[in-house]
Amino acid sequence: MGFFSELHFFSFSLSLLPVFSVANVTLGSSLSTTHANSPWLSPSEEFAFGFRQLNNSNLFLLAIWFEKIPDKTIVWYANGNNPVQKGSRVVLSASGLVLNDHEGQTIWEAKPASTVSYAAMLDSGNLVLAASNSGYVWESFKNPTDTILPTQKLDLGSVLSSRLTTTNFSRGRFELHFVNGSLQLNPVAWPTLSRYKYYYSSHTYNINPHESGYQLVFNESANIYIVKTNEEVVQIPSWSAINHMDDYYYRATLDFDGVFTQYAHPKNASSNQSWQPVGSIPENICLEIFNELGSGACGFNSYCSIQNWRPRCDCPPGYVFVDPDNRFSGCKPTFPQGCDVDHGLRDPQELYEIREVRDVDWPLGDYERLAPYNQTECENSCLHDCSCAVAIFDGMRCWKKKLPLSNGRLRSSGFSRVLFKVRKEANPGYCTANYDRNKDESILLRALLGSSAFFNVVLLVISLMVSKRHRRKGGGSSAQSSSVFEPNLSLFTYKELEEATDQFKEELGRGSFGIVYKGILKSSSRKLVAVKKLDRLAQEREMEFKTEVSAIGRTHHKNLVGLLGFCEEGTHRLLVYEFLSNGTLANYLFALTRPDWNQRIQIALNIARGLVYLHEECDVPIIHCDIKPYNILLDEHFTAKISDFGLAKLLLSNRSRTLTMIRGTKGYVAPEWFKNVSITAKVDVYSFGVMLLEIICCRKSVVMDSSEEERAILTDWAYVCYVEGRLDFLASDDEAAMADKDKLRKWVMIALWCIQDDPANRPTMKMVMLMLEGFVEVPFPPYTFLHQNG
Ligand SMILES: *[C@@H]1O[C@H](CO)[C@@H](O)[C@H](O)[C@H]1NC(C)=O
Ligand SMILES: *[C@@H]1O[C@H](CO)[C@@H](O)[C@H](O)[C@H]1NC(C)=O
Ligand SMILES: *[C@@H]1O[C@H](CO)[C@@H](O)[C@H](O)[C@H]1NC(C)=O
Ligand SMILES: *[C@@H]1O[C@H](CO)[C@@H](O)[C@H](O)[C@H]1NC(C)=O
Ligand SMILES: *[C@@H]1O[C@H](CO)[C@@H](O)[C@H](O)[C@H]1NC(C)=O
Ligand SMILES: *[C@@H]1O[C@H](CO)[C@@H](O)[C@H](O)[C@H]1NC(C)=O
Ligand SMILES: *[C@@H]1O[C@H](CO)[C@@H](O)[C@H](O)[C@H]1NC(C)=O
Ligand SMILES: *[C@@H]1O[C@H](CO)[C@@H](O)[C@H](O)[C@H]1NC(C)=O
Ligand SMILES: *[C@@H]1O[C@H](CO)[C@@H](O)[C@H](O)[C@H]1NC(C)=O
Ligand SMILES: *[C@@H]1O[C@H](CO)[C@@H](O)[C@H](O)[C@H]1NC(C)=O
Ligand SMILES: *[C@@H]1O[C@H](CO)[C@@H](O)[C@H](O)[C@H]1NC(C)=O
Ligand SMILES: *[C@@H]1O[C@H](CO)[C@@H](O)[C@H](O)[C@H]1NC(C)=O
Repeated sequence: MGFFSELHFFSFSLSLLPVFSVANVTLGSSLSTTHANSPWLSPSEEFAFGFRQLNNSNLFLLAIWFEKIPDKTIVWYANGNNPVQKGSRVVLSASGLVLNDHEGQTIWEAKPASTVSYAAMLDSGNLVLAASNSGYVWESFKNPTDTILPTQKLDLGSVLSSRLTTTNFSRGRFELHFVNGSLQLNPVAWPTLSRYKYYYSSHTYNINPHESGYQLVFNESANIYIVKTNEEVVQIPSWSAINHMDDYYYRATLDFDGVFTQYAHPKNASSNQSWQPVGSIPENICLEIFNELGSGACGFNSYCSIQNWRPRCDCPPGYVFVDPDNRFSGCKPTFPQGCDVDHGLRDPQELYEIREVRDVDWPLGDYERLAPYNQTECENSCLHDCSCAVAIFDGMRCWKKKLPLSNGRLRSSGFSRVLFKVRKEANPGYCTANYDRNKDESILLRALLGSSAFFNVVLLVISLMVSKRHRRKGGGSSAQSSSVFEPNLSLFTYKELEEATDQFKEELGRGSFGIVYKGILKSSSRKLVAVKKLDRLAQEREMEFKTEVSAIGRTHHKNLVGLLGFCEEGTHRLLVYEFLSNGTLANYLFALTRPDWNQRIQIALNIARGLVYLHEECDVPIIHCDIKPYNILLDEHFTAKISDFGLAKLLLSNRSRTLTMIRGTKGYVAPEWFKNVSITAKVDVYSFGVMLLEIICCRKSVVMDSSEEERAILTDWAYVCYVEGRLDFLASDDEAAMADKDKLRKWVMIALWCIQDDPANRPTMKMVMLMLEGFVEVPFPPYTFLHQNG
């Protein structure tokens, strides 16, 4: 079926119209796309000239086709590169034939030098413009596209150009060229016009002009041959003689795949048969195309075999088609490959395996040849060489190759084995464009499952058990001080808090929607507290305030700043938190002396735990929305606690509200804040990723006055450093971090996962936690990483 599929892609609406024979087309005649008039037919009605609608589109081609066969096969077209819309017209005038599109613009024209007196669609399939003396001044036979017909001749200099695909009539990747005495087929460096070396030549050039070819003839009995100047006929060997001219239609087409094929079609319409190939050149295009440049008969990294006279393209193991709908689009690996990817982090033999393919060859593109070598040595050499994508071993010699591979073909001779370096197990999904975006973490999960499925499942189970235990421990300790089941909040009067803060005297900081003051609670043995006075909380958010206070009130976690109570009096809304003595993480991180690496690690883990708790372990999941070092407080033991949590969520719980202002802080906000999508807990993951980089590098996410511009945005700079393998830039002068290079690298990778643009690609905080703690392998952050933020 595939072989003939090209024949079925036109609509047949035109054939339903009444047809009448028009032998001579008079000046002033026109055709339009609006089906109002019929095509111009040849006297026998076997050929027609007119508009053809490209299937499933509103585009039209001005074409000549076989009118009497069901497929209505097109043999010539005027505007393959420029299909026109409805409302376009072609008009015959004394100056020629002109195609104007629906806006009146000239798309194509046949403008002979002398005056035209009429046009005619001939029974041969030739559309001619004739002068008054009946001499033809323009012929479609002299301006061929991709097809020639019996009685058509190509003179020196003529070119046939293949289509791009069976259904796309734009200029394609191959040309037939009758030049310099020889018939040649050339690949084209598409989209340019430049030609690569021919893959077929009739070799009929002779230094003696009388002996040289001058015409390619498709004669009335459907034989195709070259005529020399001395009238000697040179047959093209692979094309057999044709016998049944009367019963068959013939055509010879340079197909989109580069094969120049002669076809025959029975004239008897009641027979089921369609076009059958009766000869083609070259016989095996897979072997004949062989150029240093270009991909060969198939796309890059694929290999070519002949089936049913046609080239067929396939992908090697671990590779998929670039465009799944187009086998000629080339193949790409389903896994990241190259020297940026692993940085010697792990033994390549753990990550990659060799898949052996036989009877296939990529003859070009070697960058190394090792001999004498045995197969094991050859495989190991490729595994340990980050440049190596594939090695070919012939029993004694080992050729190593990089991507892209070109001119791949089936070749059944010889011992040679193709050794593909493929990432172990299934792919980590970085190339799978069609993954389900609704499914959170699909990429990451696949990546995790991909790298070593069983191992990871075991680890996951272990880590879940561990984290459960952690949780129980944490829950136990907080349960001592408060009831787990009831919000255990004190209700303060405004006066009490006014006194506690000494008329709101000592300002600790400004958080979201309010100023925080230091206070001393006289009622509970002079306990230090932080009192936050909300400023912009309007009356109508009363409900949310209450719901939220009770939600936060239920939270008890050692990595969250505890809410002790609140005040709700008139328009006054205050929140009372525990007081932490050691300031904000920002002050700690961005101080003059770089804080200790191991302490920073503990702080990052603390924050991650706090976020896991907020997102997954509370009765009502809470999105913090404003994670940044200024909102992380440190107690006297340098335990990090998230503060200000819930406030942003409090303001966001009415999702239908339009976002007039971006909640969060520049440099930390996830890109989806700028889009019309609902906000999920993944915004906190993003902010955490940015902050994790800050913790690793001890610098702010945005440094505007930086002398080096490329370092201004930490996320971008970190990504570049990661890709270039220069982690030492990120942790410059930090000996402790450099000594802990594995963790450093892994944590940078985790941060890069967190700041993926697409929230679905970001891991959950729980997964982040598991990766930070080393329970789960960290896959390679996808290359789809883009920055829109900062
Ligand atoms: C044209 O129609 C054929 C058969 O109906 C279909 O397989 C093909 O996808 C269509 N092509 C386009 C470009 O719509
Ligand atoms: C077409 O026109 C030419 C020139 O006017 C004339 O010689 C010829 O006989 C016409 N053919 C038909 C079929 O009318
Ligand atoms: C044909 O392919 C070209 C290049 O990919 C594209 O620009 C053009 O839109 C396609 N034409 C049609 C009718 O699909
Ligand atoms: C014609 O072809 C011959 C042999 O292939 C070559 O030597 C010669 O240079 C070519 N001439 C031109 C003008 O391309
Ligand atoms: C066409 O070419 C073939 C082979 O050269 C020859 O046998 C045949 O007679 C030709 N037919 C005509 C009508 O010239
Ligand atoms: C056309 O083909 C059908 C079936 O193959 C056959 O019965 C019929 O006689 C043929 N008609 C002609 C005119 O050859
Ligand atoms: C023609 O094709 C149809 C559908 O493909 C098939 O059912 C039928 O048997 C065929 N007829 C002949 C004469 O081959
Ligand atoms: C390959 O060569 C290496 C080193 O020369 C040797 O240790 C190993 O045994 C050889 N393997 C085979 C299968 O011959
Ligand atoms: C929680 O409530 C109990 C009993 O009402 C009380 O003793 C305890 O101090 C409260 N804890 C906090 C943190 O308010
Ligand atoms: C943090 O706490 C430690 C230990 O309690 C103390 O020595 C240090 O001065 C504190 N730092 C700040 C900035 O408060
Ligand atoms: C949410 O917003 C809509 C429209 O902005 C409003 O009608 C509705 O009352 C709000 N709901 C709450 C609970 O505030
Ligand atoms: C935002 O998205 C909603 C639903 O997805 C849609 O109804 C609304 O028109 C969108 N608004 C804008 C400004 O794009």
